[in-house]
Amino acid sequence: MSNKKFNVAVAGATGAVGNQMITCLEERNFPVKSIKFLASRRSVGRKLDYKGNAIPVEELKEDSFKGFDIALFSAGGGTSEKFAPFAAQDGCVVVDNSSAWRMDPKVPLVVPEVNPHAIAQYTHKGIIANPNCSTIQMVVPLHPLHKKYGIKRIVVSTYQAVSGTGKKAVDELDAQTRSILNFKSYETEVYPHPIAFNCLPHIDVFLENGYTKEEMKMLHETRKILEDDTIGVTATTVRVPVFYGHSESINIETIEHVSAEAVRALLEKTSGVKVVDDPHNNIYPLAIDAAGQDLTLVGRIREDESISNGINMWVVADNIRKGAATNTVQIAEILAKDYL
Ligand code: A2P
Repeated sequence: MSNKKFNVAVAGATGAVGNQMITCLEERNFPVKSIKFLASRRSVGRKLDYKGNAIPVEELKEDSFKGFDIALFSAGGGTSEKFAPFAAQDGCVVVDNSSAWRMDPKVPLVVPEVNPHAIAQYTHKGIIANPNCSTIQMVVPLHPLHKKYGIKRIVVSTYQAVSGTGKKAVDELDAQTRSILNFKSYETEVYPHPIAFNCLPHIDVFLENGYTKEEMKMLHETRKILEDDTIGVTATTVRVPVFYGHSESINIETIEHVSAEAVRALLEKTSGVKVVDDPHNNIYPLAIDAAGQDLTLVGRIREDESISNGINMWVVADNIRKGAATNTVQIAEILAKDYL
């Protein structure tokens, strides 16, 4: 094993995902030679902990990446679009959690359990994209099914936690819940409607076709990661008053027939998946169980009796960990081990 260590920058280090990226680097013992935390000018003066050391936050600038090997970005699409090319130009490979580069044909879009080979394509632009949180947890269990039985069509409805929107949204759900329970007035700033005690069928912006951008990401990103443009995906994405952990109801139409039993057996041995499926004892995947861990929980596996080749399942994962930070750090690990 190589003992090589790397100079690592985290852009968006003060945010919900950036903070978790730092924790993941620590927990997974990433081979760090030096580490740098970047955010907006507002955060200069703050310090963030890394393995017991208080590291000052620096302002993200065009020349922030000189002498750095790997940058993990989670500072929003516009920031990635602007600054990732400067990092790449300075020889610092970017693993980007925003949607800015995901559909660029020259940028690989990677879920390590599914298409780690795509990382090799990083050389085109010096950028690797991390998929959308809802797509990651969907393709982890669907990839082995697609390989073995072929997936024709996916119908998915999501129940997404507010942490996916960022720290401000976590604070807004907290504040609204407390205010409503205490009969006080409350502010609604992050979402167009109150999120406490509510469900919003609206994630990201609405497009011409009536879908939201989040819903279309689930189609385009799934096709890119599974390397199959014939798969149909129709999604309804919903924000729910949950802090951490996205849940998804997924209906799959396969090309070859597969029983619920065979799906369960296949997923039992799929890397990154934990089958949690004993409904008679009230055991099924829950957001509060997924939160804080890296596995994608799959349960309620059953045959869709309305079609000849259909499967239903309920899939839950921590959107900040596997849906964002962990997946990004896993990509960086493969990059560091096999390519740098
Ligand atoms: P800051 O804390 O200084 O605003 P979240 O998704 O939780 O809202 O976090 C967003 C992250 O992206 C934060 O770390 C935020 O830094 C950072 N960020 C947002 N805009 C910029 C920018 N223009 N330049 C650098 N970092 C930014």
